[in-house]
Formats: sequence, structure tokens, C-alpha cells
Amino acid sequence: MSDNQPTILVTGGAGYIGSHAVLSLQKAGYNVIVFDNLSYGHPEIIKDVLKVELIVGDTNDRPLLDQLFSSRNITAVMHFAAFIAVGESVKDPAIYYQNNVVGTLTLLEAMRAANINKFVFSSTCAIYGTPQEIPMTETHPNNPLSPYAYSKYMVENILKHFDQAYGLKSVVFRYFNASGADPSGNLGEDHTPETHLIPLALLTALRKRDHLFIFGTDYDTPDGTAIRDYIHVNDLASAHILGLKYLLNGGKSEMFNLGNGNGFSVREVINMAKKVTGIDFLVKESDRRPGDAPMLVGSSEKAQSILGWQPQYSDLETIVNHAWQWHQKRHGNS
Ligand SMILES: NC(=O)c1ccc[n+]([C@@H]2O[C@H](COP(=O)([O-])OP(=O)(O)OC[C@H]3O[C@@H](n4cnc5c(N)ncnc54)[C@H](O)[C@@H]3O)[C@@H](O)[C@H]2O)c1
Repeated sequence: MSDNQPTILVTGGAGYIGSHAVLSLQKAGYNVIVFDNLSYGHPEIIKDVLKVELIVGDTNDRPLLDQLFSSRNITAVMHFAAFIAVGESVKDPAIYYQNNVVGTLTLLEAMRAANINKFVFSSTCAIYGTPQEIPMTETHPNNPLSPYAYSKYMVENILKHFDQAYGLKSVVFRYFNASGADPSGNLGEDHTPETHLIPLALLTALRKRDHLFIFGTDYDTPDGTAIRDYIHVNDLASAHILGLKYLLNGGKSEMFNLGNGNGFSVREVINMAKKVTGIDFLVKESDRRPGDAPMLVGSSEKAQSILGWQPQYSDLETIVNHAWQWHQKRHGNS
């Protein structure tokens, strides 16, 4: 650890997006401590790839957080820790509100007690609900449709009020579909259960799954399948570094969309997965899922103009190719 650089606590740093942010923080010279309860995280990534300090703990554990904040000189917190499955949140909202809202409030209260007042938060485009305009900007009305989305919306409001009352400065990032992997192939997406299209397609190519479902082929889109905005995980990570620097330089609380600005349809993604892997696989068509919008595409102009953020990996082939490098390493021989 360097004595001259700020120390950043990364909650959820053993997960998909958090682990990429840790790598970017390390490359930018920050000291990093990961705080993760390993409910979904991957300790071997921490140990073998990132080689970073890991504190196994839960954001609901206030005594542990108090002890951590009083014993270490932590300047800011990047908060990725959350449960992320929309469908599960509908079936069991209590665990989503406990983990994502109460856990975050507990973390913020521990920060407040320790006079730590810089916070970068992972929110989601799902707080917008059904789009009324494309591309969606940060001024789009909020209408979260699931307990998961609502949990993020509640935290955004907590952050607004914590700034007004206590001076906590936050950068909120509303991600569109996080995708891709670090080009090294050493980090990538590995959720259990997996619900995201690109890893599902690649796992089907690897014969880890029998087939892939398309949900809805009769949307009012050019090929009838739903369109989403896929943003490379390293582009998310670079935005987090810029957001952190913005706060360290005294920036006021802000929220930003992080998307690619280009939408890709489910069929386009599947065709790209077949092209990149060189493997054909079975695709089955099914009915639309309730609540799925035909198209979700974000405008990230605000992050570009205020933070100077510029996505580097916007084309679908690169995104799928990087994810494929990771999936082959992770799952190819098992
Ligand atoms: N993946 C996406 O496309 C996407 C889109 C929008 C927003 N997000 C948000 O980004 C963040 C990271 O998502 P991800 O895809 O990396 O998920 P992930 O499941 O891979 O990572 C989340 C990590 O948080 C840890 N965790 C969960 N609850 C915790 C708690 N109470 N205390 C300590 N650790 C805890 C898990 O063990 C896991 O390592 C989440 O907040 C998610 O809501 C993700």
C-alpha cells in the first residue's frame, strides 16, 4: 500500500462490476480494501487476480463497519454490494429491502459516524421504468417497477437527503446493461443464477446449457426482439475512477447514466455470440416476459460532459469477444 494515495473501500468488490473497478483503482494508484460478504462474490478472484485486501463482512454489520472505519484511514466508499436479481426481488422483496436499502443505510450511518463523506453508488436504469423517450436522460421520470429497482431508487433518495442534512457527497451511476470482461480474460461475469443475455449465450455455446431463450419476438423493433444498451464493464470502471476524482476534487452530488448510447437487439447479440465463438447453438423463442420494455437505450452525455467520460469499447463485437475470452478461461475446460 502507498502512504500517499487515498484508500478506497469497495463493497461488493468480489463481484462482477466491483472486481473490475478494483482493478481500475489499482491501476490508477489508489489503495483498495474490498468488503464483501461473499454471498455471490468470488474470493479466488480477490486472492489470485487482484491480490487485494479482503474483509469478509456484511453491510448490515454495523459493529464491524465501525471497527473498520475507526482503524483504517478510508477516504471514500464505492458501493457495489447488493442483490441484483429482479425476478427474485418480486418473489422475496424483504431480502432486497434488507440488503440493498437497510444494508446501505447501515453503511452510510457508519460512514457518517467516522466523518467519511464521499460515496460512489451503483444504481440502475431500471429506476426509470417503461421509457417515455429514447435515449433516456437523467431527467426521465422515475417509475421503478420491481422491488430491486425500488431499492435503488430509495437509496438514491437517502443519498439526496444525506447530502442536504449531513453534507454527504455522492456520485450515483445508473448503469444500463453491464457487459463484457477485462481484456486480460482474468476477470469477468459469473453470476449464479445467471440471467444476463451475453453470458447465457456464451454458456450455451460452451454446452453448459442446452439452449437459449428469446423472450418476445413480436416487439415493435426492426427484428421483433427487445433492444438493450450494453455497456462494457471496463467503461463502467473508468467512469467510477472519474466519479471518484470528481468527488475528491470537491464536486457536488450528481447522478449520471452510464450506457453505450447504441442499442442492440437480442437477435443481434445472439448472432454476434455465434460469430465470435464460431459455434452454433440452439435458440428457442418464447413469449414476452411481463414488465420487459421493447427498448432501453440511455444517453450518457451528462457523464461525458461533466466527468469527461468516454466509453472505449462501444462495439458489440469487442464486448462479446472480451466476454468470450473470460468464459473460455473460466468454464471452457470444466
Ligand atoms: N450487472 C448489471 O448489469 C447491473 C446493472 C445495473 C446496476 N447494477 C448494480 O451494480 C452492482 C454490482 O452488480 P454485479 O453485477 O457486479 O453483481 P454481483 O452479484 O456480481 O456483485 C455484488 C457483490 O456484492 C456482494 N454483496 C451482496 N450483498 C452484500 C452485503 N450485504 N454485504 C457485503 N457484500 C455484499 C456479493 O457477494 C457480490 O460479490 C449492484 O449494486 C447492482 O445492483 C448491476
